Amino acid sequence: MIGRLNHVAIAVPDLAAAADQYRLSLGATVGAPQDEPNHGVTVIFIELPNTKIELLYPLGENSPIQGFLNKNPSGGIHHICYEVENILEARDHLKSTGARVLGTGEPKIGAHGKPVLFLHPKDFNGTLIELEQS
Ligand code: CO
Repeated sequence: MIGRLNHVAIAVPDLAAAADQYRLSLGATVGAPQDEPNHGVTVIFIELPNTKIELLYPLGENSPIQGFLNKNPSGGIHHICYEVENILEARDHLKSTGARVLGTGEPKIGAHGKPVLFLHPKDFNGTLIELEQS
């Protein structure tokens, strides 16, 4: 059911420093910061030949990223995103296998303008999984 790895998301304590590090030290193509108020984050996408890296920084009050950074002050891998062809079919299948979908269970529009859902990390080996309709 799952397709390509769309991105790996890394929560960072300093967005500009992380962007500079990817641009200057790692020589990557780094995008501009985008505010995603519906998700409580500012994101920067880094294009790699086979996938993307999503740098995440808290935006606004009650950002889910702030709690993560409080526990991981130097940052860390926050989630991985897999592509699916049909997000509602994928959700219904996952629920039928006992996986928990976070939030209302209805897809939200993600940073790429496509519907996304998140799956409970306790159901997936401690890894927060984002599904994005391709
Ligand atoms: Co993501």
